[in-house]
Amino acid sequence: MTNPTLLILAGDGIGPEVMAEVRKIIDWYGEKRDLTFDVTEDLVGGAAYDKHGVPLHDDTMAKAQEVDAVLLGAVGGPAYDDLDFSVKPERGLLRLRKEMDLYSNLRPAQCFDALADFSSLKKDIVAGLDIMIVRELTSGVYFGEPRGISIVDNERVGVNTQRYTESEIARVARSAFELARKRGGKLCSMEKANVMESGILWRDVVTEVHAADYSDIELSHMYADNGAMQLVRNPKQFDVIVTDNLFGDILSDCAAMLTGSLGMLPSASLGAPMANGRPKAMYEPVHGSAPDITGQGKANPSACILSFAMALRYSFDQGDEATRLEQAVEKVLADGIRTPDLMGIDGGTPVTTSQMGDAVIAALEASL
Ligand code: IPM
Ligand code: MG
Repeated sequence: MTNPTLLILAGDGIGPEVMAEVRKIIDWYGEKRDLTFDVTEDLVGGAAYDKHGVPLHDDTMAKAQEVDAVLLGAVGGPAYDDLDFSVKPERGLLRLRKEMDLYSNLRPAQCFDALADFSSLKKDIVAGLDIMIVRELTSGVYFGEPRGISIVDNERVGVNTQRYTESEIARVARSAFELARKRGGKLCSMEKANVMESGILWRDVVTEVHAADYSDIELSHMYADNGAMQLVRNPKQFDVIVTDNLFGDILSDCAAMLTGSLGMLPSASLGAPMANGRPKAMYEPVHGSAPDITGQGKANPSACILSFAMALRYSFDQGDEATRLEQAVEKVLADGIRTPDLMGIDGGTPVTTSQMGDAVIAALEASL
């Protein structure tokens, strides 16, 4: 048997720092759980631009297509703000998503008990929260044509196009219904069918998929603006939410803050099954490159570590090991071992990124 393969693209800003902690955990699984991965590393984002003049080299794209899973850190930073749009760090990430056809982006928002005080919402509204946002990731206004900035009647006009085909809606809806079936059995679909034709189609197709194959799931529909409001009013009413690329981008940042820190949120981006039966997959923290704290040992590696836990669960069929890792992170937080983003008003001494990683390893050890 050959080892499963991973491509690590640590990227920019705090990406390499948080990914270094994931490397320790990958090594631990090799040594202690007989789960050895063949790991290669490469560049993405500004780091790739610095070396190759493009945010993702073709060779890196080809490698990403071959491995069992890609782990990505973060892309972007002020040094790249003035680059031409076509070579901005974010283009590297969007190319990976598009060419790997990672249409289903899972963004779980879970509020660990130890962190309920850190949410900007009242504790009783978020304590015990466990929702899953499924964001369509390869279509919609992020990729629709026509797009661009042109001159019309002597002034500049910016155009982007929201476009969805039935099959694009149906496949992401299916992945969301499947998740709902494994979780609380409820799915809420969000769009703006009141103002957008693409929203009308979205609602129709989700309804059809439901009637055909998922009538055991409780389906509801909500306008996305109301959804944003409900997420902060009463987030625990939701189990799984499915929505388009742009609404999903916005709603998932909103859901992230319910959990206390953007440094806690992992994500999985999944596509169609490969020849070996595993889905095409990329795992990345929801947070960005955080240039303001880069290189200071302040970054919270939890989101990146929890993204690796999602890899164990969704790519490698190691649900028990994923749970072990999630519980290790939860235990460390409950013990009060925290990076600066999670220090309370009454202080305490924060740990560094690397100390946080070591504490998770210690908790993994203790779990054996
Ligand atoms: C995200 C990010 C990306 C997006 C950026 C970095 C291109 O905000 O993954 O949510 O807009 O999708
Ligand atoms: Mg975003």
